[in-house]
Amino acid sequence: MADRPVTITPPTFTVAIDGPAAAGKGTVARALAGAFGFAHLDTGLLYRAVGVKGGDPVAAARGLVPADLTRDDLRSLAAGEAASVVAALPEVRAALVDFQRRFARQPGGAVLDGRDIGTVICPEAEVKLFVTASPEVRAERRWHETGESIPYDEVLAQVRARDARDTGRADAPLRAAPDAVVIDTSDLSIDEAVARAAAVVRARLGAA
Ligand code: CDP
Repeated sequence: MADRPVTITPPTFTVAIDGPAAAGKGTVARALAGAFGFAHLDTGLLYRAVGVKGGDPVAAARGLVPADLTRDDLRSLAAGEAASVVAALPEVRAALVDFQRRFARQPGGAVLDGRDIGTVICPEAEVKLFVTASPEVRAERRWHETGESIPYDEVLAQVRARDARDTGRADAPLRAAPDAVVIDTSDLSIDEAVARAAAVVRARLGAA
């Protein structure tokens, strides 16, 4: 046999999941990670941690440490609002790129969910999913999550405002990558949404 250079590629496999607030990205991402043994990163936590840290958001993004991601106030509505404000700053986004790309290419596979994973962070991802649902359905889910402690209409207004900010910003706006598989969860149960996503991953793994 002729001598040919042998290229050893590490067994990486990236699943990029994007979509608007409360569409079910996180649930699908966690389920895929569990089913296929992939590591999971909820990239929204990075922006939430920067948003709640206070002070200069660019300095906060550059100095982010793992302990910042374990604060117990990161899931609040206020943290989500703060996140979407700092997430519009290009220097904040730039400071978080390398960490996300390293996570995506770790051996054994990774699932990342966010807003720009398939478009900006991992345009080469093996699987790209865009998980979405109507604003009304998403607001209802958020409203239940808050224990219905604030009026539904207020939650719906917040969902719409966040959608507008996330899709309207100049840097890395929320949108589906052209080759993303769209999963609309408005009329799907969690199990149905997860089953659809898992079928896309299985098909790609089989073809890899
Ligand atoms: O859980 P939920 O969908 O409400 O929010 P999240 O995924 O934790 O993200 C909070 C905010 O961070 C979003 O509204 C985005 O503005 C921002 N974000 C982003 O810009 N890029 C990402 N990859 C993830 C989140």
